[in-house]
Amino acid sequence: MTHTLTAPLRRLLSLSAVAGVLALGAASLFNTPASAHGDVTPQPVDISGLPKLGEEWESENPYRGNKRALEVGASGYNQNCARCHGLEVISGGIAPDLRKLDLGDEGDSWFIMRMQSGAVRNGITYMPVFDGVLPREALWSIRTYIESKHVD
Ligand code: HEC
Repeated sequence: MTHTLTAPLRRLLSLSAVAGVLALGAASLFNTPASAHGDVTPQPVDISGLPKLGEEWESENPYRGNKRALEVGASGYNQNCARCHGLEVISGGIAPDLRKLDLGDEGDSWFIMRMQSGAVRNGITYMPVFDGVLPREALWSIRTYIESKHVD
């Protein structure tokens, strides 16, 4: 009788040990909300219908006022940026509110710099690099979308 009880009991105990380890892992992830998202795989963006761009970064957004770029950017943003910067560009507090990013080429330069370097400090990725990960057509479209949501 003792035998038949111990085996399931032992299994139960080892299961709860595994659950404990999993819970610990989850807890340490949630301690650093932004970095926990840092290594998420970038989502592909459909850039069909956009004028193709050259090799180098333009100094300002070549798609400003382009309707297709606005569409591409809305979807590209919501799939790649919203998890940190908030749906519809309204930040929930994890990352800066991008509606405040300067309009025009000043905002563009800041945007380019962020796409190239992300935000990595002391080996922790707060924001991943997107330059070379998503095509520049997608990135400028996202910039177009962000600018359309600008508030002062
Ligand atoms: C993993 C979370 C995360 C993702 C995903 C992310 N960001 Fe960020 N982003 C941050 C954080 C955190 C900062 C603030 C960095 C700092 O404190 O230096 C930031 C800063 C920025 C800034 C500078 C804002 C300012 O006011 O200085 C821009 C622009 C930006 N992100 C654009 C984007 C775009 C565009 C995307 C999607 C292509 C994106 N980010 C995806 C977390 C993220």
